[in-house]
This record gives sequence, C-alpha cells and structure tokens, in this order.
Amino acid sequence: MKIQPMLVEGTALATFRQRLLDWFATAARDLPWRRTRDPYHILVSEVMLQQTQVDRVLPKYAAFLEAFPTLDALANASTAEVIKCWAGLGYNRRAVNLQRTARAVLQEHSGRFPCDVAVLRRLPGIGPYTAGAVACFAFGQDVAFMDTNIRRVLRRCLVGPEESGSAVHDRELLDLAQSLVPPGQGWRWNQAIMELGALICTATSPACWRCPVREHCRAFAAWRSADEQVFTTDVTGSFAYPLNLGVRPTRRVAEKREETYIGSRRYYRGRIVDVLRALHPGAALSLQQLGSQVRDDYAADHLPWLRDLVAGLARDGLIEVDDDMIRLPQT
Ligand code: ADE
Repeated sequence: MKIQPMLVEGTALATFRQRLLDWFATAARDLPWRRTRDPYHILVSEVMLQQTQVDRVLPKYAAFLEAFPTLDALANASTAEVIKCWAGLGYNRRAVNLQRTARAVLQEHSGRFPCDVAVLRRLPGIGPYTAGAVACFAFGQDVAFMDTNIRRVLRRCLVGPEESGSAVHDRELLDLAQSLVPPGQGWRWNQAIMELGALICTATSPACWRCPVREHCRAFAAWRSADEQVFTTDVTGSFAYPLNLGVRPTRRVAEKREETYIGSRRYYRGRIVDVLRALHPGAALSLQQLGSQVRDDYAADHLPWLRDLVAGLARDGLIEVDDDMIRLPQT
C-alpha cells in the first residue's frame, strides 16, 4: 500500500495542520518540559519519557532536576549519585548515558548544547529520536522525528490500520512527516502529534470520534467502511469505536510483559543495581554477597551466571568491580 498522497497537496494539508494545531491549543496538557526551552532540561525529560509513562516521569523529572539542576551539576556528580536518583525509572543505562552526554557537552562543546541534529547524534546514547526532539523542543527547529507514538499516529493517518500489513519503511514515513511540519511551527507541531498519540490515537483504544483529524485519516476511513456491525450509534448520534480493531486487551498484555520480564537478564541486571543502590555511599559487596541478595535460591553454580551479568553491567558503566568487590561507580 502506498502512503496517502492527499495530505501532500495544498488545501488538505493546510486543513490537516490547522485542525491538529487548533486541537492542541485547547487540549494540551500542561507538562513541565513544555514550559522550558533549556536543552538540558528537555534532554532529561526526553530520555526519561522514552521508556516511562508521563505520570511516572513527572515526580522523577522534578527530583532529578532538583538534584542536578544544571548540565554542570550532572557532569560533576558521581555516577553512583546519578544512578541512585534514577531509582524507580528502570533502564538504568539511560542515567549513565545522560551523564556521559553532560560530560561530553561540557568537555567537547564548552558546555553549550549543540543544536544540530547530526552533532547531537554523536553524543552518548542519543539516537535519531532524541536528537530530533532536542533540536525541535529546545532550539525550535522544524525537524521531524519518530518515537512509537508519533509513528503510530503517522502510520494510521498516512498508511492505514496496523492490520493492513503494509510495508512502509520508516525512512519513507519520516520523509513525509518532514513535509507535514508547518514552517516555523516545528515545536507546536511535534508536540501536537505526540499529544494526539497520547490522548486520542492511543495504541489500544483510539478515540476516533474525538479526533480532530479523523477526516484525513486512512485508518479511520478503513475501519469505518470495514464492517457496519462494529460501529454502533448511540442516542446522541455520535458513534462508538469499533471493538474488534485489533485492540489489545491492555491488562493481559501488561501481565504477559511482567511475566516475561521477571527472571529475565534485564530483571536481574535491575536487581543488582537496586541492591547496590541500597548500600551506604562507597560501600561494596563480594560476588557471593551480591548473589545471595539478588536471588533467594542463590547457589555456587550460579557464579558463572552472576559473573557474566556483573561483567555486562561493568561494561555499560553501571557498576565498578575492584578485586571482585562490586559497587556503583564512584567517579
Ligand atoms: N513523550 C516523549 N516526549 C514527550 C513530550 N515532549 N511530551 C509528552 N510526551 C512525550
């Protein structure tokens, strides 16, 4: 299936843009990272938001910026302090990379954040999404970028329903996304697409009847014409969303995810970091001590497994190992 050409044309594109921007002006949540253009603050928010829901990020974002209010403060802190402050967010590597980026900006860019996407991408742990988000949200650049939410909104709008199975590559989608960005309004535009993905065009229960751009949406058109039976008209004349939309039962998916996570490598990496976080500053544990705190059934034959996990964490800069004693990085 080809990407929808309609939106590339003049009036439809203008209407599409205007409807989304008007909706954003009235529906946008007041989020703290929308009230700043400080690239350091924007970067902290974007890194946190990559794997974590907005509600959980809000208190962590405030606490992190209280602990490390400036790029200098983060760069000069010990990595142990940064990892401790990251508790509860998971994916601890993000914290280490964030600090590496702060140190790189300080050392290689004289403390001034680069605004160019290509330069931002060279910073530790900064991929195309984060580079685009910082360039746009901190420096107001009219660049397109995609995370899961943006990709879903664009795909539905421009390609069609997920189940249509069409093979449109990200590169193609991104090129089109770039042509949608209204000149001079990149910040509002990208925030608006994200907000639509978060509030209306959600993964499991999209609220198309409230969507400001449904008339421009391929998925909506396909779902509407697919099967009369799946739409019901209520007494107010508005219609409810189709129930068989490939909509995943959220709770079951979350339970399944939790089941596969427990006992996984990522789970035990997190356990090790949690155990070390709870120690007094600078304290260390032997492999044996660590093993028995990480799992109740720890036995001697778990040692190679534990060594391997510890080596991986050390490689990622999340722990330091000295004479077989393990602790959070002190520098
Ligand atoms: N998720 C990622 N970035 C976001 C932002 N700037 N606002 C809301 N949700 C987001």
